[in-house]
Amino acid sequence: MATTTASFGAGKRESHDASVYYSRRMSGAAPVLQPTGLVQDPPQKILDKIFCQSSEAMTQIPDASVALMVTSPPYNVGKEYDEDLTLDAYLDLLHRVFTETYRVLEAGGRVAVNVANLGRKPYLALNHHVARLLEEVGFLLRGEIIWQKAKGAGGSCAWGSWQSAKNPTLRDLHEYIIVGCKESFSRQRKGDDSISKEDFMAATLSVWNIAPASAKRVGHPAPFPVDLPKRLIELYTFEDDLVLDPFMGAGATAIAAKQTDRFYVGYEISPEYRKLALDRIKKAATDPSP
Ligand SMILES: C[S@@+](CC[C@H](N)C(=O)[O-])C[C@H]1O[C@@H](n2cnc3c(N)ncnc32)[C@H](O)[C@@H]1O
Repeated sequence: MATTTASFGAGKRESHDASVYYSRRMSGAAPVLQPTGLVQDPPQKILDKIFCQSSEAMTQIPDASVALMVTSPPYNVGKEYDEDLTLDAYLDLLHRVFTETYRVLEAGGRVAVNVANLGRKPYLALNHHVARLLEEVGFLLRGEIIWQKAKGAGGSCAWGSWQSAKNPTLRDLHEYIIVGCKESFSRQRKGDDSISKEDFMAATLSVWNIAPASAKRVGHPAPFPVDLPKRLIELYTFEDDLVLDPFMGAGATAIAAKQTDRFYVGYEISPEYRKLALDRIKKAATDPSP
């Protein structure tokens, strides 16, 4: 039986009729750009390539040819590749990359941006900034995934004032993945799915339990685990789709794309990390547990 959005409390969710919610003035508040409906096949020459340049200008990629962008941007927190940018300059960099991403994404294509919030004095809610930037550029937000990296805090005792209300601080076990799309919520292009029933059930929940990757083992200061882009790729793309990572790092997105029979294209400003990514992709092709 179909349910409706409850006027008091929360209702059941199966076969949900949300027309009452969507007819209210608060929904659809984000500006909707003029839809182009454009979907183009990417040229062969950019398939499975990592370009060593800034993703602020993705000159090799034609308009509307990418199905999904998955990335973890630099956090500007002092990793060896980070410049010491002001918050405004940092957000301007992300704005330029997201604007380029909007151009290269096909109508119905998706973006998934992994971000951690920073600091405590005060707390810098980068997830809010990223969601706002994506909306500003024109993306429609689809949701936010909590990536739970651990069940407990391990050895961390950064709890502030011990057993006291003086100044207790939260110890984060999670990061965020902000998900948006271009022009329409449904894919315009047709294709073959590859996700299993169990993976689909898990991937459509808003909390994902995935163990982090070891920076030391990968040889990059901030790698994400291959299982993270892999789940996003299988949830949001069809086989043979093109997946973009504008901050490719050690290549997790590319490895995940190949493991799921998709193509990748990426940008990495550091020649060393580009080489590391290419080596890992090659190794993953013969050893499925990189
Ligand atoms: C957080 S890391 C990405 C890690 C990646 N998800 C992985 O699993 O390895 C960000 C990467 O972006 C690269 N980078 C920084 N600014 C860039 C830019 N403007 N264009 C392209 N790459 C950039 C850095 O060198 C770094 O490797």
